[in-house]
Order: sequence, then structure tokens, then C-alpha cells
Amino acid sequence: MATRKIVKIGDETLRKVCRKQEKFDLRLAVLLKDMADTMYKADGVGLAAPQVGILRRIAVVDVTADHSGLKELINPEIIERSGSQTGREGCLSVPERQGVVTRPMKIRVRYQDRKGNYVETEAEGLEARAICHETDHLDGILYVDIMDRELSQEEIEGRIPEDGE
Ligand code: NI
Repeated sequence: MATRKIVKIGDETLRKVCRKQEKFDLRLAVLLKDMADTMYKADGVGLAAPQVGILRRIAVVDVTADHSGLKELINPEIIERSGSQTGREGCLSVPERQGVVTRPMKIRVRYQDRKGNYVETEAEGLEARAICHETDHLDGILYVDIMDRELSQEEIEGRIPEDGE
């Protein structure tokens, strides 16, 4: 297992618009593996390449507890959005903070897999939230830029009402 160092807020790397990934080679496979290892070790549900200092349009997402739902998203584009969800969000690059962010409830995303094949899939709930969050990273956008509000330390430790409560 190889993990990479996670870049933190304040670093300009997180503010760049990433370039398209054009090569589907061994180097990409190694990066994807390292990104998944880094995400799992940090207990995250998503990680974008700029968070490990690579300015390419690559992200990994896995919202399952048993790490069975890994999605490797290369050059992802959200092509449909529907509904909305308002809830808690954090980021491995923004430690010890959380905010309330409104995202679509359901999305359709088009991306390439590690071999360069085009894939189209739907995601909803937490996975839709995670994919939107990671796709934003590829354009230099952090959740703190678009959050409804920041949570207090007490709220971070406790629970806040989610949608429908
Ligand atoms: Ni993030």
C-alpha cells in the first residue's frame, strides 16, 4: 500500500483547474491505486488528484463501509442533475471543519475508466454528493466556497438534522 500526502487548504494546488487525462497507462493505474489507498487510510469517501498534488481530472469515490464500491473517475462530467439534498460535508483537505452543503440528490455522470473506455452511470444520495464534491475539486472549487453555512465544533461532534427531519 502506498499512500500520498494530502494537500491542505491554503495551498494553491487546490485552486487550479486540472487538465484532462489523456494517457491510460501504468502510471495512471499506480496513481489510482495510491489515491484509493490514501482515501481509505484517511477514512474519506472521495479523493481528487489535485489533493495529492496532481493537476489532472482524476478522482476516486467509495461511499461504502466495506470498500466494495470504488469508482475511478477519469475526466468526469456531470451531465444530468435532479432533486436536491442538504447535508453535512467535509473534505480531507479541510481538516477539522464541516459545513452544510446543498447538492443534487441524483446525477448522471459520464467519465472514462482506467482503460479509457467511456462509462455513463447514475448516482444518488451520498454517492452523488461525493461525485459532485470531487468533480468540483478538478475545477479548483472547495465545498467551503459553496456551503450554506459552516458547522460549529459542537455540531461537528453531534448530529444535525438532515433532509426530511
Ligand atoms: Ni474534498
